[in-house]
Amino acid sequence: MGPDVALRNGTASPLGMLPAGFARMKRQGERIVMVTAYDAPSARLADAAGVDSVLVGDSAAMTVLGYDSTVHVTVDEMLVLTRAVTRAIRRPLVVADMPFGSFQISNTSAIRHAVRFIKEGGATAVKLEGAGRTLRRIAAIVAAGIPVIGHIGLTPQSAVALGGYKPQGRTAREANRLCEEALALERAGCFAVVVEAVPREVAKRITEVVTIPTIGIGAGPSCDGQVLVWHDLLGLSSGHVPAFVKQYAELAASTARALDAYVADVRAGTFPDARHTYAMADGELELFQAGLRARAVANSG
Ligand code: KIV
Repeated sequence: MGPDVALRNGTASPLGMLPAGFARMKRQGERIVMVTAYDAPSARLADAAGVDSVLVGDSAAMTVLGYDSTVHVTVDEMLVLTRAVTRAIRRPLVVADMPFGSFQISNTSAIRHAVRFIKEGGATAVKLEGAGRTLRRIAAIVAAGIPVIGHIGLTPQSAVALGGYKPQGRTAREANRLCEEALALERAGCFAVVVEAVPREVAKRITEVVTIPTIGIGAGPSCDGQVLVWHDLLGLSSGHVPAFVKQYAELAASTARALDAYVADVRAGTFPDARHTYAMADGELELFQAGLRARAVANSG
């Protein structure tokens, strides 16, 4: 990465974007752009588009691994995806989502798993869902020297406990609780917090009360940054897409059209045509055919 890229994005680091870059962006009122990605080609495209951060979200459980919720994905599965992303990325800060079960049991196992995402996955930071009991784990991981992003509001790993995938913080009491949780995450050492599916006024208040950047998803325009799930943003999701998602493309539809055309071409024998096949080297076809003819004569005699 050239210094121009680093300086333009305020990271001024050969390592690419760092947590300190997030803090500087909040101070200077620059919006942070985060997107999820789960493989090398997507990560490369996100980097080329100039995003500040790529989240290897546990949404991968549903978007790419075919599970029906995020709770099933394992650390080992998330590590494969994280490695694919970090191999391809140069500038954006890569955040690995710690999946359900990887930080609930003890501080020791939370640190061990977080270390794996840094050492084996190549991520720069990890994200943990929830406040409450998660605060102790976050403090322990931060004390081990690993940067952490918090996540409050709709936390899909506890969707069952929250009564489903619904917006959070819609009452004054819940709104106050979310502000308290954000402050507690900041005190626990998080360098940023994802705020998911909460009313815009509540996200605005959270963004005012904490000094760390807020990254909103379904939380209105006042957050310091925004994150969207790759498959939602590009129109690749099957099934329900949350109302807060803006789809910037319809890749599922264009992919389906391309596949239909491929199936039809193969069945009709119109693919591959001359443009899509290799030719033999000059003069070699004649030699090859002469050899075949000579062998046929020898065999018939
Ligand atoms: O897993 C994920 O993709 C996330 C984002 C929705 C923030 O946690």
